[in-house]
Amino acid sequence: MSGPADLDLSNGPASRVTLRDGRSMPVVGAGLWRVEPGAVARSVVTEAIAVGYRLVDTATLYGNEADVAAGIAASGRPRSEIFVTTKLWNDEQGYGTALEAARRSRARLGGAPIDLYLIHWPVRGLRSESWRALGELQRSGDALSIGVSNFTVPQLEELAAGSSVVPVVNQVEFTPFLFQRDLLDHCRSHGIRVEAYSPLVRGQRFGDRTLGRIAAAHGRSPAQVILRWDLQHGVVPLPKSTHADRLRENLDLFGFSLSRAEMSEIDALGEGFRLGADPAQFG
Ligand SMILES: NC(=O)c1ccc[n+]([C@@H]2O[C@H](COP(=O)([O-])OP(=O)(O)OC[C@H]3O[C@@H](n4cnc5c(N)ncnc54)[C@H](OP(=O)(O)O)[C@@H]3O)[C@@H](O)[C@H]2O)c1
Repeated sequence: MSGPADLDLSNGPASRVTLRDGRSMPVVGAGLWRVEPGAVARSVVTEAIAVGYRLVDTATLYGNEADVAAGIAASGRPRSEIFVTTKLWNDEQGYGTALEAARRSRARLGGAPIDLYLIHWPVRGLRSESWRALGELQRSGDALSIGVSNFTVPQLEELAAGSSVVPVVNQVEFTPFLFQRDLLDHCRSHGIRVEAYSPLVRGQRFGDRTLGRIAAAHGRSPAQVILRWDLQHGVVPLPKSTHADRLRENLDLFGFSLSRAEMSEIDALGEGFRLGADPAQFG
C-alpha cells in the first residue's frame, strides 16, 4: 500500500488527509442521514465527538444542520476542531439559488464557514451553474473547500471541461458490493478524494461469508473490516450510527491491517449492488 493517493494512518483516529486545495480533513466521518432531527441528532453529534470523530457529514436534505451546530456546541470542543460537510439539495441547484442555499446552510450550522460544501446530486442542466456558485462561495469564504457527490466519470469530465476548479472530494456510494474501481482510479488520477457513503451497506451484508472469515481472523467485526478496506483504498468512509458503542467500533480501525490477499478477496465481492439511485440516470 504505497503511493501518493494513499492515506497516512499513523495518527490513528486523529489521522487526516490533505485535500488538493491544501486543507486537511479527517479520514473517517460520522454520517447523519436518517438521524432524526432534534434531540437525537444533537446527541449523536455530541457522542460522536466524545468518542473521537472530527468529521460530521450532513446535508440540507437531512434536516439536521442546526442540530449539528448544537451538538458541536454541547461537545465542549471548539467548532474549529470539527470538520463539517453539508450539501446543496437538488431543488436549489442553479447559480443564485445555490449561493442563497449555501448561506442558509451556513447560518443553520452556526455561522462559521462550511468546511466542505458539496453538490449533492449531478442535476442535469443545472450542475455546471451550481459548480460556478460553489467556486464563488469558496472565494467569498462561505465554504472553505468545495466538491461533489454522486458524480460519475463522464459527469466529472463534463465539469472539468467547463471549469478550471477541480472538486476536492467526490462522495459516492462505495462498498465491497459496489466496488467502483474505475471511478476510484479516475478520482485518484485527478487528485479528487473519494468518500464512501453507505459504507456499511446499511447493515444488509454483515452475514457475508468472506467478510465474516476475514473479520474472525483479525478478531474484528465485519463493519470494521469494510471500513478498514475503505481506508486501505485511500477512501474516507462515512459510517452512520445512532449507538455509542457502534460509533466507537466504527472508529476503531487502526489496530489491524488487511493483507494484500484479503484486500483482493474483498474487492472481488463487487457485483454492482446499489442501495441508492444510480447517478448515471442524471445523464
Ligand atoms: N451523498 C449522498 O447522496 C449520500 C447518500 C447516502 C448516505 N450518505 C452519507 O453516508 C452516511 C452513511 O450512509 P448510510 O446512513 O446510508 O448507511 P451505513 O453507514 O452504510 O449504515 C448505517 C446502518 O448500519 C447500522 N450500523 C452502523 N454501524 C454498525 C455496526 N458497527 N454494526 C452493526 N450495524 C451498524 C446503523 O444502525 P444504527 O444507527 O441503529 O446503529 C444503520 O442502520 C449517511 O449517514 C450520510 O451522511 C450520503
